[in-house]
Amino acid sequence: MDDRPIGLLDSGVGGLTIWRATKRLLPNESMVFFADSGHVPYGEKSQPELHDLTTRIVRFLQTQDVKIVVVACNTATVHALDYLRETFPELPFVGVVPVVKTLASRTHTGTVAVLSTPATAESAYLTGLIQTYAPDKNVLRIGCDGLEDLVEAGEANSGRATALLERHLTPLRDTAVDAVGLGCTHYPFLRARIKRILGPGISVYDPSKPVARRVRQLLVERDALASNRQPMYSFFTTGDADHVRSVAEGLLREPVGEVGHVEL
Ligand code: DGL
Repeated sequence: MDDRPIGLLDSGVGGLTIWRATKRLLPNESMVFFADSGHVPYGEKSQPELHDLTTRIVRFLQTQDVKIVVVACNTATVHALDYLRETFPELPFVGVVPVVKTLASRTHTGTVAVLSTPATAESAYLTGLIQTYAPDKNVLRIGCDGLEDLVEAGEANSGRATALLERHLTPLRDTAVDAVGLGCTHYPFLRARIKRILGPGISVYDPSKPVARRVRQLLVERDALASNRQPMYSFFTTGDADHVRSVAEGLLREPVGEVGHVEL
């Protein structure tokens, strides 16, 4: 047993989709969530910048005595997870990557699409996932700039978000795509709208639950599950703490309490 918290990090509030899935699966675990809202979007950062920012965040999470770190951000995972594992060899990490394997196994037409930030869409990591898990499939990489900014601004349900989604997604309806993966942790908050725009013939998958299951598996292997009757949830951000709190509460539809401001 290990009652220390799980640490989660994202460029902003998107990683709360992983936080939510982890909380549902592991209700006795305490969690420390770090939203690097002062530096969002990660999709526009260079790899050295992402190494630097995520290293500082992990150092902060270590001050919170976390037992495991979930990099709850596709962009940070594909560009910085290997680096973090080398830098903190004693700390277990779980990352999140687009569900290419799932898409390849579910498609009937052989054409699938991954929605992500432009940085993830253009990454060598995604190329590797496609070569490994979907070499015989037609995988469309849709880099959707701007969506995570609207989620960060508390505008996930706005007309602007719908218009942007329509611009990115409508062209998919004229293709053979029958399975779409959400390759950015902000996007599950837009899921209902994404499904509506894509229509009933296209299935939508996101990695939140598989990531939560991977966290459980690692904790079981290390005999490190918690038995907290009253788990604690804490939230930190490099951005505006009041704004992050109100956006997080709007997205999760539950109170999150105080959000602490941190300078990295
Ligand atoms: N939530 C992030 C992801 O999964 C990143 C969004 C961003 O900051 O660009 O890719």
